[in-house]
Amino acid sequence: MSEIPLQLENIRKSFQDGDREVDIFHSLSFEAKKGELIAVVGPSGSGKSTFLSIAGALLKPDNGRVIVNGQDIASFSEKERSRVRLQEIGFIFQTANLVPFLKVKDQLKLVKELASNWGKEAKGMVQELLNSVGLAHRLNHYPHQLSGGERQRVAIARAFMNDPDIILADEPTASLDRERSVEIVQLIVKEVKEKHKAAIIVTHDEAVLPFCDQIFTLDRGKLIFRERVEEK
Ligand SMILES: Nc1ncnc2c1ncn2[C@@H]1O[C@H](COP(=O)(O)OP(=O)(O)OP(=O)(O)O)[C@@H](O)[C@H]1O
Ligand SMILES: [Mg+2]
Repeated sequence: MSEIPLQLENIRKSFQDGDREVDIFHSLSFEAKKGELIAVVGPSGSGKSTFLSIAGALLKPDNGRVIVNGQDIASFSEKERSRVRLQEIGFIFQTANLVPFLKVKDQLKLVKELASNWGKEAKGMVQELLNSVGLAHRLNHYPHQLSGGERQRVAIARAFMNDPDIILADEPTASLDRERSVEIVQLIVKEVKEKHKAAIIVTHDEAVLPFCDQIFTLDRGKLIFRERVEEK
């Protein structure tokens, strides 16, 4: 794994709004180092989800380089980008996005299968991960049998399943109370610190910020460094 698993260089992105072109980013640069959890805050519509989608190979920039573990993925085919997403990036969304008809353990199994990587070892990993997020007793439950916080913990375990170098979370605590939010961010922190991953968390949640190494505000297409909140 490279020391800087994720680099964005001079990213330009605009969207068409009727006959008008709206510039979201003109020339945005950013990097995430190993072992670092970075928070991105900013007003609604400032481009936080767009930023994360570009960083996670879900959306192509109009210009600029997205470098994942030393490879510029801008020139990659859709197939190659999908491999990068599956193997090198773990996504966590606002709602857990679980598959309704799959049991908890099978939600994790699925991502391994998609990566053609299902075996005995992976089976042990499902147990271990669900254990680490406190869900060992929920292996055979379906999403509708879980609380919101539990569903989000399944989504986190699933995001860690392929052991990605980069973790991207888009408002993962938005539907949770403060205590559950802190639990969720602590799970991400643990993964980042113990396994030296790079992580970006987009959030509106002040409870999350004291756990982050750096905080940036996205404002008018620029990422502005914001002083870290010290107290935990
Ligand atoms: N596919 C698209 N087509 C056109 N405009 C888009 C598209 N995706 C996003 N936008 C616009 O780009 C801007 C940034 O959107 P984005 O979803 O990145 O904001 P955000 O910071 O994540 O907001 P929120 O905090 O509400 O989630 C918005 O004005 C949005 O309407
Ligand atoms: Mg958003």
